[in-house]
Amino acid sequence: MKDNISVILGMQWGDEGKGKIVDLLAENSDYVVRFHGGNNAGHTIVANGKKYPLHLIPSGILHPNTKCVIANGVVVDLEVLVSEIEMFSKDGMEFKDRFFISDRCHLILPYHKALDIAYENARGENKLGTTARGIGPTLADKVSYNGIRIYELKNWELFEEKFKFQAKIKNAILKTFGVEPIDIEKELTRLKELREIVLPYITDTFQLLQRAIAEDKKILMEGAQAVMLDVDFSPYPFSTGSNTIPGAINTGAGVPIQKINQVLGVVKAYTSRVGSGPFPTELTDEVGKHLQQKGAEFGTTTGRARRVGWLDLEATKFACTVSGVTEIAITKIDILSGLENIKVCIGYELPPSVIARSEATKQSNKIPYSSCGYQELTKLTPIYKEFPGWTEDITNVKSFNDLPQNCQDYIKFIEEFLGVKISLISTGPKREEYIKT
Ligand code: GDP
Ligand code: IMO
Ligand code: MG
Repeated sequence: MKDNISVILGMQWGDEGKGKIVDLLAENSDYVVRFHGGNNAGHTIVANGKKYPLHLIPSGILHPNTKCVIANGVVVDLEVLVSEIEMFSKDGMEFKDRFFISDRCHLILPYHKALDIAYENARGENKLGTTARGIGPTLADKVSYNGIRIYELKNWELFEEKFKFQAKIKNAILKTFGVEPIDIEKELTRLKELREIVLPYITDTFQLLQRAIAEDKKILMEGAQAVMLDVDFSPYPFSTGSNTIPGAINTGAGVPIQKINQVLGVVKAYTSRVGSGPFPTELTDEVGKHLQQKGAEFGTTTGRARRVGWLDLEATKFACTVSGVTEIAITKIDILSGLENIKVCIGYELPPSVIARSEATKQSNKIPYSSCGYQELTKLTPIYKEFPGWTEDITNVKSFNDLPQNCQDYIKFIEEFLGVKISLISTGPKREEYIKT
């Protein structure tokens, strides 16, 4: 079997720089495939003197010979999809015969977005901080047989009937929240316009990908969000609605797991998180300010300021293990330049007063990430290892040995702790700013 199918996944809480890495590797890929999540993702590419924030279209789109696929596991907001198609078409980008959407994708409809916001407002102080893009309500509809697939767009009369049935139910729910119901006729008029634009791209992406596999094409599976937001392996409910680990490739694109040769984990040199939820290594001091401002940590999707903190290797090691990571790309190491000292979390400790459900805590106060629910994660104390920092700007460094010694030591420690080779070091947002080790 050739080494033809790779997956790129975030190892933290999202925004690790997956878009940049996918764009970099897409040059030598025949296909780039999104297989889960939706437009809660915001993947940034900085190339050709421009910045492209992508939410749905796969991050291979800037390479004209690479085909881009939105496979069945993705939930699709037609409004966002069409605005991205239009943005790239204005730049002269060709979509015909190189952009495909599965007819099995579920649609994010206007009432899903309204419900996402209504639930959040109802939670008040306990809000989760979702992206308000309707992700949770759409996935809930999918598994409760109330969803509407893109497939239905092929027959407008049938779609209209299904949409009206669901919209009436959703409007009744919105009313109980005291929220304005959606205007069914107005929304249908807009959906009909959007449908005309996307119809040519709708296809059976399962067949498409099976053919690509049979022809030994190079395929890059583009993960969104990250392992710490996985609906099963995160401290639920502070998660996203989809599975974000490699298993989602099988369910979300029909690609058998045995065909995947490389799992590239993307690890930011520190940690960021958008929205609520426990964050053991969070920094709210001057160092936090440095990371937030120098790292320009604002959400690509919502523009919200991201919370920041030290690199949490206890959580990241879990993410690598559950995903079977074979290689790591480390990003935003340049942002650490100028810090006097750098800390990394190498374990968690619970105060003896906290009764944990972990077997491990019976012998000591240590608790592994996997045994933590959100309550443990808010009560534990991170165990840190401290490194001396460096002052040099490393953005234009092209070889590992030319990095400041302290920076090399920091990277080597991460590699040893995780037990996975770091094959790529990203030193800036631009496509060409990286070191191959
Ligand atoms: P994604 O969701 O994982 O694709 O990440 P985002 O695009 O949401 O956020 C990552 C941000 O960091 C973007 O603005 C990127 O342009 C930027 N970025 C990516 N890699 C690097 C890097 O190595 N250094 C710096 N300074 N910025 C980077
Ligand atoms: P990329 O692909 C960072 C977070 C939200 C919220 C939680 C649930 O750019 O890394 P949702 O709208 O999914 O129901 O929100 O998940 N979240 C992300 N955080 N990067 C993302 O994607 C995210 N997608 C969802 O902030 O905490
Ligand atoms: Mg992002």
